[in-house]
Amino acid sequence: MQTRIDNKKIVLGVCGGIAAYKSVELLRLLNKQGAKVRVVMTQNARSFVGPLTFEALSGYPVCFDLFQNSDSKKDSSIKHIDWARDADAVIIAPATANIIGKFANGIADDALSTFMLALTAPVLLCPSMNSQMYANKAVCRNLSMLRADGYFIVEPKAGELACGDSGPGRLPEPKDILDRLLHCLAPKDLKDKKVLVTAGPTREPIDPVRFISNPSSGKMGYSIARAAEHRGAEVVLVTGPTNLPDPVNVKVIRVETAKEMALAVFEHMEEARIIIKAAAVSDYRPVNLAKQKIKKGKDEITLFLKKNQDILKELGRKKKNQVLVGFAAETENLEINAEKKLAEKKLDIIAANLVDSLSSGFGTDTNRVTLFYKDKTKEALPEMGKDDLAHILLDRIVKVLDVSR
Ligand SMILES: Cc1cc2nc3c(=O)[nH]c(=O)nc-3n(C[C@H](O)[C@H](O)[C@H](O)COP(=O)(O)O)c2cc1C
Repeated sequence: MQTRIDNKKIVLGVCGGIAAYKSVELLRLLNKQGAKVRVVMTQNARSFVGPLTFEALSGYPVCFDLFQNSDSKKDSSIKHIDWARDADAVIIAPATANIIGKFANGIADDALSTFMLALTAPVLLCPSMNSQMYANKAVCRNLSMLRADGYFIVEPKAGELACGDSGPGRLPEPKDILDRLLHCLAPKDLKDKKVLVTAGPTREPIDPVRFISNPSSGKMGYSIARAAEHRGAEVVLVTGPTNLPDPVNVKVIRVETAKEMALAVFEHMEEARIIIKAAAVSDYRPVNLAKQKIKKGKDEITLFLKKNQDILKELGRKKKNQVLVGFAAETENLEINAEKKLAEKKLDIIAANLVDSLSSGFGTDTNRVTLFYKDKTKEALPEMGKDDLAHILLDRIVKVLDVSR
């Protein structure tokens, strides 16, 4: 499966901090995503994790000494220059207070700090240390200097630290560092654009403990919100109930019912340039909400349902210069239903899929959709990860924006 860091050359810089063990996990995650990762370590990092671990997992010798490699060969190649020239991006995780001081002041007295001076690729710096050290004035000053120099700083998480203290200083989880790497490498073609995304199911209450809903996990909408944020957009995500964590730098509005979703969407639609409706909104809601739990009694009971407002149709009616994109999950007649929806709701693009397969639709990590465009053309996409599909959809939206400019 193609990912956005497939075949990218990433250098992972590891320093002598207690969180060095997490960089092993990070390396594995980057490898899994198809990146080619080389590791440069400080001498002190070797007291925490052996270079052999990184060498075995990365498939490359590790550079920890300007004059020697982990495979103990004296090497005539100038690794710190060659690797710096080659790198698409660099992640320093964990970044110690010491290395931050060196980077900020251009000191080059070991393999990692020397490598950094020869570098032009973007750097993601992940400080991790005791919270008093992190609050130290010199460390703060050094971090501000690096920020001004164009380093991307990934703020440490607050929580219980290895030293027993509690506060900011924990290295973020590898998946969160990967998320910031993707942000760092993504084109910023949605900069200054406001994007409104909806995701997840809605719940229509029947009584205080029951509701009508559907199995939407919210993954597609969350992938779109993350991808748009990576590409520089200001993103509002209106989401029904899901188990997914809030995407970084995204304004998340959590709702339950279709009515609440409609209110939140209409409140934010005016300011949005792009609106993508990936939520699976209930078409109907119970007419009456029982105040108490409905007791088991008769063999059959009747539930009267009332049609909910069609949010997408209303958006189509109200839209001014927005690009409006919808999703259609169908169980039959995909093309006919999608084209009908596209026209009726005045959409620019509709992503339609048949929810009859295990790899496509509700709850899965992959999706296979056909995109139908306003100009009556269509594009059948192969099965792919929802993150990749989100970027392809945004690529197509950027094209629509370019045409309408
Ligand atoms: C057990 C232990 C844990 C440490 N953890 C950290 C840490 O998490 N962050 C940090 O900045 N320094 C930490 N230090 C201090 C660094 O190892 C020390 O400042 C060292 O000079 C860093 O070297 P380097 O930046 O070249 O890797 C720790 C030291 C010890 C002994």
